[in-house]
Amino acid sequence: MRIDVVTIFPAFFDVLEVSLVGKARGAGILDIRVHDLRDATHDRHRTVDDTPYGGGAGMVMKPEPWGEVIDEIAGAPSADPDAADPTTGPLFVFPSPAGERFTQATARELAAEPHLVFGCGRYEGIDERVFSYAATRGRVRLISLGDYVLNGGEVAAMAMIEAIGRLVPGVIGNPESLVEESHEDGLLEYPSYTKPASWRGYDVPEVLLSGHHGRVAQWRHEQQLERTRERRPDLLA
Ligand code: ADE
Repeated sequence: MRIDVVTIFPAFFDVLEVSLVGKARGAGILDIRVHDLRDATHDRHRTVDDTPYGGGAGMVMKPEPWGEVIDEIAGAPSADPDAADPTTGPLFVFPSPAGERFTQATARELAAEPHLVFGCGRYEGIDERVFSYAATRGRVRLISLGDYVLNGGEVAAMAMIEAIGRLVPGVIGNPESLVEESHEDGLLEYPSYTKPASWRGYDVPEVLLSGHHGRVAQWRHEQQLERTRERRPDLLA
């Protein structure tokens, strides 16, 4: 899978060189390319933002640098407008608190894409025309990590790349470990224990030491239901 990231803070993505995602990059499973939006500016101050039309607080990201980077990633517009086929281009993901909500189901959908482009906005957002232009070169989704506001799209893109990347075949050594996780069956994960059986006065639940697979499975399912009822009743509604 190819993933392009457009940002004014490429250093945020240095950590994609470590851990499982880093290993998958080294193995050629994930081809991740980070682009500095300021490289597509042509003034001395490498300006990427300007004041909003209509007034208001904050700054808006200018469309011109975005247009150049989109052309670089997805190809310049064809002279023949009928030749443009956005369904064959990449999927552009713009992290935004004004987007649809990111869930495990979204991660699964995006993990099946051959080419994702994450456009990380800063300030009060990106000039709206950038989304319209990107939609001529590929499909576009604005996606929110949750109902809170971050300073920009970088941390949200990182979280999404990790959630998506681990679902790409070959990234996680044992794919079975993906099955029994929180949100995969609509419930929170059951509690886990390892050795020793007794630690600082805390004992591992008896049933897990019983070797009785049926009873273990039933206990785990009950724990999932109880936790979900307690912590995330919205998931059961
Ligand atoms: N950018 C700023 N806040 C965000 C959020 N909650 N989700 C995605 N991108 C964002």
